[in-house]
Amino acid sequence: MEKQYCVSPAVLVILLLATACSSSTGSRHFDFNVQWKNISRLCSRKEILTVNGEYPGPTIAVNEGENVEIRVTNGVSINTTIHWHGIKQLRTGWADGPAYVTQCPIRPGQSYTYKFTVSGQRGTLWWHAHIAWQRATIYGAIIIYPRMPYPFSTPIQAEIPIIFGEWWNLPVEGIETEMNKYGNGPNSSDAYTINGLPGPLYPCSIRDTFIQTVEHGKTYMLRIINAALNDELFFTIANHTLTVVEIDASYTKPFDTEAIMITPGQTSTVLFTANQDKHDSTGLFVMAARPYLTTVFPFDNTTTIGFLKYKGTLAENMALPEPYKVRLPYHLPQMEDHAFAISFSNQLRSLGTPKYPCSVPKRIDKRVVITISLNLQDCPVNQTCKGYNGKRFAASMNNQSFIRPLTSILDWHYRKYSSTHYSYDFPQKPPHVFDYTGVDPMTHNLNPNFGTKLFAVEYGTKLEIVLQDTSFLNLENHPIHIHGHNFFIVGTGFGNYDVEKDTGSYNLVDPPERNTVAVPMGGWAAVRINADNPGVWFMHCHLEEHTSWGLAAGFIVKNGAKPYQKLLPPPDDLPAC
Ligand code: C2O
Repeated sequence: MEKQYCVSPAVLVILLLATACSSSTGSRHFDFNVQWKNISRLCSRKEILTVNGEYPGPTIAVNEGENVEIRVTNGVSINTTIHWHGIKQLRTGWADGPAYVTQCPIRPGQSYTYKFTVSGQRGTLWWHAHIAWQRATIYGAIIIYPRMPYPFSTPIQAEIPIIFGEWWNLPVEGIETEMNKYGNGPNSSDAYTINGLPGPLYPCSIRDTFIQTVEHGKTYMLRIINAALNDELFFTIANHTLTVVEIDASYTKPFDTEAIMITPGQTSTVLFTANQDKHDSTGLFVMAARPYLTTVFPFDNTTTIGFLKYKGTLAENMALPEPYKVRLPYHLPQMEDHAFAISFSNQLRSLGTPKYPCSVPKRIDKRVVITISLNLQDCPVNQTCKGYNGKRFAASMNNQSFIRPLTSILDWHYRKYSSTHYSYDFPQKPPHVFDYTGVDPMTHNLNPNFGTKLFAVEYGTKLEIVLQDTSFLNLENHPIHIHGHNFFIVGTGFGNYDVEKDTGSYNLVDPPERNTVAVPMGGWAAVRINADNPGVWFMHCHLEEHTSWGLAAGFIVKNGAKPYQKLLPPPDDLPAC
């Protein structure tokens, strides 16, 4: 079989812009085989789930406007699905991927071809498994090359994928099953990784270190993806300034920063120039990522590092420094640096030029307020519960904890089956009004309702969703991801959202456009959506432990009146449940 995907970040090949994956046909085919691969990290060997035996998986590099077909064959003995995170999937919700939301899983030995067109977006996105915790190892980059030249003029020497992940020494496939059984939290990971490599601060890992060679005076493009399961991360490169030019495949007004904060689900394209004088240094610079901590739950507090090596310097032939000699970059924010996290997010702005206008809805048809909560549920009789205080952890939106049915919601919705499996009555405001961010975390812990409640809007609705953090269990920064649409982050703030006061400070000129928003810890974020993509769309916290606990909902955009406003019919090979 011909290998048609372009290049894997794992092999550290640098993509040259001009030659990358050009196609004259306007359509592109990839083959993904889900298979086990035996690999060693952190002093032990284990079998991990991969695509084509690669970790991270192959890069999907396409041109804006192309039709993409990815044939996924399940070569393992458990169900799987793949999601193309951030791809809008205009009218092709069947190809979106979340298990039991837009499709039944691909069963062992079966194949399913995901077909979609990449339009109206350009930059860095990613793909990952979307069932249980398989995305721990099944993930890779998506690169969409723009139809028009980049809006920045600096010539780019090379593109470097930087994909953060999390590594567990024990198998991760069973984590969700275990969590469902006992209602507990997962073990925290044993390492963070850069392109699958933990780097020398972990045991037995000196050889598993990401190293990028650069040339003095040249500018490089980093395509940064946070594929970690449960942790927001800070990232920086010693002595180098980063220029953010695009987030979630949408251009930004470029701005310089010493570090970035990136949540699971988010992507960010940044430029940096290798401008350090080679006579002043060894030519070796540390890049590092560590978690942005907003939780009281156990978490992985380690740091992953890699290196930039300047060509023609001592560094070229030098062994890497011993771990104890590694000095972390001065500008790497501390784990509790909320101020940095907030000020970084506040600098993001849509490019908003005539070529790339910012299409934020200035007026809205509907505003929905959704509280985000962690919860404790009493332990059912005759069960063992391992959550806090002998109870079960849960998580909810407007006190609804989402249960994925064992059927495809999209399919049932499309066929207009009436079902007891789900209902269209997701609450559009919090069921109780209280001091969301100020109550005692333990005493105000409402038992959530469990079920599959969907939230439906008419085609073309200009929708505002206010996401409100609550202090149940603890305040936390939640990365909320909405499938099928980008949204505009028109406002964020601390404390309780106040419609009278807070709408006045909205940015309706050049708000950042994303698919995943970091809802500030103890605060709120207001996002606006042009609901113009008919289908059933998963909306959830991209911290995998919270998704497992039910911090999710189904968002439905109904068909419009015109033929081009309707969901396309399902493909013939759509898996059945
Ligand atoms: Cu990436 Cu549902 O998500």
